[in-house]
Amino acid sequence: MNGAVVEIEGLRKRYGAVLALDRVDLEVRQGEIFGLLGPNGAGKTTLISIVAGLSRATEGSARVLGKDVVRDYRFTRRAVGLVPQEINFDPFFSVEEALRFQAGYFGVKLTGDRLEEILSALDLTEKRHTNARALSGGMKRRLLIGKALVHDPQVLFLDEPTAGVDVELRQQLWRYVRRLRERGTTVVLTTHYLEEAEELADRVAVIERGRLVLLEDKGTLMARNAGQRLQDIYVALLQRERAGREAE
Ligand SMILES: Nc1ncnc2c1ncn2[C@@H]1O[C@H](COP(=O)(O)OP(=O)(O)OP(=O)(O)O)[C@@H](O)[C@H]1O
Ligand SMILES: [Mg+2]
Repeated sequence: MNGAVVEIEGLRKRYGAVLALDRVDLEVRQGEIFGLLGPNGAGKTTLISIVAGLSRATEGSARVLGKDVVRDYRFTRRAVGLVPQEINFDPFFSVEEALRFQAGYFGVKLTGDRLEEILSALDLTEKRHTNARALSGGMKRRLLIGKALVHDPQVLFLDEPTAGVDVELRQQLWRYVRRLRERGTTVVLTTHYLEEAEELADRVAVIERGRLVLLEDKGTLMARNAGQRLQDIYVALLQRERAGREAE
């Protein structure tokens, strides 16, 4: 496994005429925060869905902790936590019930301490008995993060976790993500807030039209482009990719 928690090889995903992923190879290392960037429709959610076992690749393979996500689905599903981009949960459960049911789904006992920790980290303690449908948009997103954490996954996929979350909460979430990393959780984060990736990521990958166009240590990337923000580096990279395609 050589320190890689997620190994993706030659991954392709075709939806009819659309090639959502085109021969993507990458590895996510143990304990890192991996920033997965790319414009709308680049293939980020598709990649995450395949690793999380929600979607099947057309070609290629994905492994989590050395196990194939199709063949060893039960194992890999248990090792992964997913905060989906779309908000989708049963509005009739309270926050606490939603967390307890999610734990039950994974067959784990949610201890009182763990429940309190999750509620507090996501600032949902006051809303623990509130029905999900009565939460604000940002609170619903926080509940999704809580649900992804109940079974204490080794790899956490955060697909735009802070979309619609207010500034203070976003910073609180960043602190929590760092704490998770300190405890050894590997985090894959997609975001359109480049400052978020700049702040959190150890390595950054960019996919564009289904192809991996950059994968680099964030510190090295920033040092190579001294004086620039990640956002500038990213925009320039995408412009070069587009110009290169037009020249073909
Ligand atoms: N279920 C589906 N059926 C058909 N096409 C799909 C499906 N899901 C995604 N696609 C297409 O695959 C491509 C990649 O979509 P994907 O959702 O992975 O992008 P993304 O990088 O997550 O974008 P965003 O930043 O907007 O979330 C897009 O062209 C999209 O229209
Ligand atoms: Mg997406």
